Amino acid sequence: MPDIPEMGPTGRPRRTFPEPKRLKTHGPARIIALCNQKGGVGKTTTTISLGAALAEDGRRVLAIDFDPQGALSAGLGVATHDVPTIYDLLLSRSKDPKDAIQSTGVPGLDVIPANIDLSAAEVHLVNEVAREQILAGVLRRVAADYDVILIDCQPSLGLLTVNALTASHGVLIPLECEFFALRGVALLIETIDKVRDRLNPAIELDGILATMYDSRTLHSREVLERVVDAFGDSVLETVIGRTVKFPDASVSGTPITQFAPDHPASRAYRQLARELVFRGAVA
Ligand SMILES: Nc1ncnc2c1ncn2[C@@H]1O[C@H](COP(=O)(O)OP(=O)(O)O)[C@@H](O)[C@H]1O
Ligand SMILES: [Mg+2]
Repeated sequence: MPDIPEMGPTGRPRRTFPEPKRLKTHGPARIIALCNQKGGVGKTTTTISLGAALAEDGRRVLAIDFDPQGALSAGLGVATHDVPTIYDLLLSRSKDPKDAIQSTGVPGLDVIPANIDLSAAEVHLVNEVAREQILAGVLRRVAADYDVILIDCQPSLGLLTVNALTASHGVLIPLECEFFALRGVALLIETIDKVRDRLNPAIELDGILATMYDSRTLHSREVLERVVDAFGDSVLETVIGRTVKFPDASVSGTPITQFAPDHPASRAYRQLARELVFRGAVA
């Protein structure tokens, strides 16, 4: 009798993605927006943990804090006041984006921070020429130095998020394994389609990432099943479990991969990094 493979949570045979080859040269970056207009689904946690995991595999990673709440900056332990932020770069072309880059405690992972000033950006940008393309112009000036740029979007589909989608090659959608998770995804996909039609023909859906999955509950398993029914192979095989380690890691200002390197959640984010390399979403 043939071996019956063990199934992973998305209903595909469970597998381990291989450690990717080290890169001999770096850049230009592929840009990925982490996007979902619902808050609290794991966008920021994924940007930090995935960024750290990709850096562990030798990728040069730049994370962009694109949420006025500044949670990405806080989670990586970098300064957000009396330093240049993404807001300054959006508003003034004369500022060199390289001056806003800060290194983090993770070698290979850098960040451009944000603070509450960014909440005024939409009002300021609305009358600009090509207002949807301003972030793209900023990132073009730093892309050569990185293999991947991850944009941590705010929970809205407003002008800032449209800027992120216009600047990106791909979108990663973190989706909480909760009953109402699927609500809103149709609108998000519609927004991505509009951006593809009007502003950025090359943008791809890199994947839907199930987060906060609890394999012990029928509820989580049912939600994930529905997500796979709806989105098929766009759903990444890697699934992020629910654990209180994430809030603990955020408070410490370090990625979970450093805070609790052997925790299953750290291993899951390393698998996510490798799955994205395997799929060609990251070099
Ligand atoms: N897999 C997880 N399990 C448990 N808590 C999580 C998980 N991922 C994120 N969190 C926590 O949930 C909250 C929201 O996550 P966050 O990444 O900030 O979401 P978003 O950026 O989409 O608003 C944070 O307190 C975070 O620490
Ligand atoms: Mg966030």
